[in-house]
Amino acid sequence: MAFLRVPGPPFFFCMFLIMIPMMTKSAMNDADALLRIKQSFNNPLYLDSWKIGTRPCDEVRNWVGLVCGNGIVTTLRLKSLNLSGDIDMFALSQLQGLRVLNLVNNSFSGPIPEFNKLGALKAIYLSMNNFSGVIPSNYFTKMVSLKKIWLDNNNFSGPIPSSLAKLPRLLELHLNDNKFSGLIPSIGVQSLESLNISNNNLTGDIPSSLSRFDVGCFEGNPGLCGSKLGRLCYSVVPTPPPPVKPHHESLKIAYMLMGVTATIFAATIIAIFVLVQKRKKEEDEQMRKFDGSFGSSPSEKEHDSDSQN
Ligand SMILES: *[C@@H]1O[C@H](CO)[C@@H](O)[C@H](O)[C@H]1NC(C)=O
Ligand SMILES: *[C@@H]1O[C@H](CO)[C@@H](O)[C@H](O)[C@H]1NC(C)=O
Ligand SMILES: *[C@@H]1O[C@H](CO)[C@@H](O)[C@H](O)[C@H]1NC(C)=O
Ligand SMILES: *[C@@H]1O[C@H](CO)[C@@H](O)[C@H](O)[C@H]1NC(C)=O
Ligand SMILES: *[C@@H]1O[C@H](CO)[C@@H](O)[C@H](O)[C@H]1NC(C)=O
Ligand SMILES: *[C@@H]1O[C@H](CO)[C@@H](O)[C@H](O)[C@H]1NC(C)=O
Repeated sequence: MAFLRVPGPPFFFCMFLIMIPMMTKSAMNDADALLRIKQSFNNPLYLDSWKIGTRPCDEVRNWVGLVCGNGIVTTLRLKSLNLSGDIDMFALSQLQGLRVLNLVNNSFSGPIPEFNKLGALKAIYLSMNNFSGVIPSNYFTKMVSLKKIWLDNNNFSGPIPSSLAKLPRLLELHLNDNKFSGLIPSIGVQSLESLNISNNNLTGDIPSSLSRFDVGCFEGNPGLCGSKLGRLCYSVVPTPPPPVKPHHESLKIAYMLMGVTATIFAATIIAIFVLVQKRKKEEDEQMRKFDGSFGSSPSEKEHDSDSQN
């Protein structure tokens, strides 16, 4: 039973040797990080320039989709490259100088990746993909440098994350053409200059902090109300109480029942009336017949004349 022995010093030495490369991973350079990111894409057809033995930030020509500053990557601009797959978040987080992430018009899908681990990002552009699901309400809490957030033309659902409302430097917020629902959080920051939340499933009033924006920023949300949209907000409660419809329905049924009852009642009265009339007519006729036979019977006449005599 040798394999059940307690591991000796050689075992720990081996573990240590294995762990050295793991520890150095945290100091991954940009080239290694980018190559790992490329590996995590399903279809990196257009990233041929990303290859071992060349430098991402080169004096002559950078790798495709990179903007560099002081020899390190500051912007990843991978727009319209038909990319998909589970992006390697660890590798992405190793790009120490990264401030702008642009994945616009690709084929990424599923829940939003943990881009919120990139605490220094100033801009995140994810428009025109197929991201879906609910974004956690605290997702943006630590992304305090964010100025531009484009999540438009995806499939996001659930509430607009409330942590968005607290970003101190926000300039642009594009959430249009998704399936966001619920109330619009009151985003109070004065720096906000571009907003679009149209074509979602949002409800309730437009917060006063956002009333300076054009009506075109809010359209395509049937549940939104307020003077800007020309629809009255009936109640402080966002959703009207559901028993309205059943109540309506039962009223309808009640009216129908009343109608039917009234008709039956009227028909019965008429029927009784007709019957009574008929009965009366028959009785009258019988009476008349009886009277007639009484008056014109020969025996009676004889009797009558007899008595007169
Ligand atoms: C989106 O990307 C595709 C290529 O994948 C391209 O043909 C199309 O023109 C792009 N659309 C926009 C609006 O950039
Ligand atoms: C886009 O990628 C998919 C696979 O991810 C592939 O089937 C399709 O042909 C690609 N389209 C273009 C225009 O490269
Ligand atoms: C959103 O998801 C639905 C169904 O899951 C799909 O039919 C639709 O194409 C998606 N929208 C986008 C923009 O990908
Ligand atoms: C978007 O993703 C959903 C599943 O999440 C899938 O059903 C749908 O076909 C995708 N739409 C496009 C346009 O890729
Ligand atoms: C809109 O949101 C309501 C709940 O607020 C939901 O029942 C409905 O299915 C949503 N509609 C769409 C088109 O997503
Ligand atoms: C908001 O987005 C919608 C849909 O893409 C667009 O039609 C509208 O013009 C945009 N509104 C503003 C104010 O940018």
